[in-house]
Amino acid sequence: MAHTYEGGIPAQVYLGTLLVALCFHPISVGGVDPVLNGIPTSSLPAAALKQEVALENGATTLNHSMAMVQRMEGLLAQGNGSDVALRVQTVNTDEVKVIQAHTLVLSLQSEVFEELLLSHNTSTLVLREPADCAAVFDKFIRYLYCGDISVRLDQAIPLHKLASKYRVWSLQQGLSQYMTGHLSSDSPTGHVVGWYQYAMQIGDANLRDSCLQYLSWNLSSVLQSGEWGSISDDLLLSLMQRSDLILQSELELYEALEAWIGQNQPAGLTVENALRQVRYGMIPPQHLFRLQKQSPVMLKYYESIRDLLFLAFQFHSASPVQLAKYFDVNCSIFTPRNYLSPSWGSPWVINNPTRDDRSFSFQTQLGPSGSDASKRVTWNALFSPRWLPLSVRSAYTNEMQATRTDGGRPRIIVTPATSSPDFAGVSFQKTVIVTARQGGKMVVRHVYNFHQSTEEAGDFLVEADLHRRASEYLIDSSLYLHVVVKPLYHSLIVARK
Ligand SMILES: *[C@@H]1O[C@H](CO)[C@@H](O)[C@H](O)[C@H]1NC(C)=O
Ligand SMILES: *[C@@H]1O[C@H](CO)[C@@H](O)[C@H](O)[C@H]1NC(C)=O
Ligand SMILES: *[C@@H]1O[C@H](CO)[C@@H](O)[C@H](O)[C@H]1NC(C)=O
Ligand SMILES: *[C@@H]1O[C@H](CO)[C@@H](O)[C@H](O)[C@H]1NC(C)=O
Ligand SMILES: *[C@@H]1O[C@H](CO)[C@@H](O)[C@H](O)[C@H]1NC(C)=O
Repeated sequence: MAHTYEGGIPAQVYLGTLLVALCFHPISVGGVDPVLNGIPTSSLPAAALKQEVALENGATTLNHSMAMVQRMEGLLAQGNGSDVALRVQTVNTDEVKVIQAHTLVLSLQSEVFEELLLSHNTSTLVLREPADCAAVFDKFIRYLYCGDISVRLDQAIPLHKLASKYRVWSLQQGLSQYMTGHLSSDSPTGHVVGWYQYAMQIGDANLRDSCLQYLSWNLSSVLQSGEWGSISDDLLLSLMQRSDLILQSELELYEALEAWIGQNQPAGLTVENALRQVRYGMIPPQHLFRLQKQSPVMLKYYESIRDLLFLAFQFHSASPVQLAKYFDVNCSIFTPRNYLSPSWGSPWVINNPTRDDRSFSFQTQLGPSGSDASKRVTWNALFSPRWLPLSVRSAYTNEMQATRTDGGRPRIIVTPATSSPDFAGVSFQKTVIVTARQGGKMVVRHVYNFHQSTEEAGDFLVEADLHRRASEYLIDSSLYLHVVVKPLYHSLIVARK
């Protein structure tokens, strides 16, 4: 069933004006009186007639496309001159909807209709559609006549199904783009999980990856939403494997997994696979003790993850560098994800970022292991709005430098305030999460990983255009960042020979 709801803002998608172009070219007039073939000019709205565009060669284009679309819409609504009736039956019901249509228009827009109508003798075409598609069938046909369509979040999938079934490629492509662009839109029950499942079903890798990335980058919200309980085993496992998840902490993920298992009661193997994707090394030992004694899922499946828990407790018991001397570890339990909790990093809001360089200091734990978590590291971050790579700078002569530092790019470097012997064997991976406004909401737009300088990422904020006040990366003239520091014990997480 198509679930309907109020409050979803319909988006207008303007697509191919194939029909308009074919039936009605804007007429170029050069010195001759305009003749509007077959169109009684008296019936065109005055506003439409005013649309004259002077062309370079002295000719003028009279553009009545809008009026043409209105007339096509009227043709469909009134059914004048119709030569085929579409009987749309909703499967498993006796609901029927009849639409008076025109063979010429349907065949022009869809090769499937063309074939159906050619091989069909009677003036009635019977089409069977599932309920969700039947509910938007008029909309779909209207698109074939007019070339534009208004779409709500809950209509995207049924319309996409129709566009695919009848091979209306422009509509299909437009709807894929619509979905990719509306992942963060408000919906009462959530729509991204449904879109992901649909993308998997039809093999749309692009839409699938966009949905996965959106869910990964906004995981804390997803975990708290009603949508979380409804995700499939496959989606759960795909998410749990990712290192780019943005969430508060690994413990948050474990607790959400436990809730999901309680709600879905999946097969034992699924539970085991999911539990083995939890990065236990990233959970502080005091929480692991509690889970071991109080988490019903852990009590039940303790044997399946005993080896990982043992490894995690070993990791917490001494310096990870010591552990790495004795053990080969080939699994992800020591690889951090993008945790937003304060021990891993800090938010950084930069007001008027193009004004000048900005610096900022924050502290993190030295590492997640029990032996390092209480040691603090102070980090200095420096943001430069117009930084020039050395190669470019040396190419400037003195006088050019005096004029303008054109072409400079934003850069952030993050360095420790002091050095310490504790840093041996650890490499600190930095991640900058950039939040931007989309449809009035804060959404993660980019995630940049680097070791010391965003220069390494190559494309840091290249498309942000911070000089423009209206830049979509600025929220009330400020740039919203979050810096995460991820200690990596390479000897632990890169498999050794
Ligand atoms: C005619 O006008 C419509 C909207 O009024 C516009 O979208 C279209 O591009 C115009 N066509 C030409 C050829 O100027
Ligand atoms: C279309 O048909 C209706 C009656 O069904 C009629 O009133 C109207 O004038 C017709 N329009 C055209 C453009 O022929
Ligand atoms: C289609 O119509 C033609 C003529 O109207 C007729 O000769 C033919 O048998 C019909 N074919 C089918 C499949 O109904
Ligand atoms: C490490 O694990 C991965 C996947 O779990 C496997 O493909 C790889 O061969 C393993 N490497 C070693 C050295 O065991
Ligand atoms: C996460 O999703 C919620 C609900 O859709 C939205 O309000 C919020 O802006 C999103 N946040 C991010 C960081 O994407």
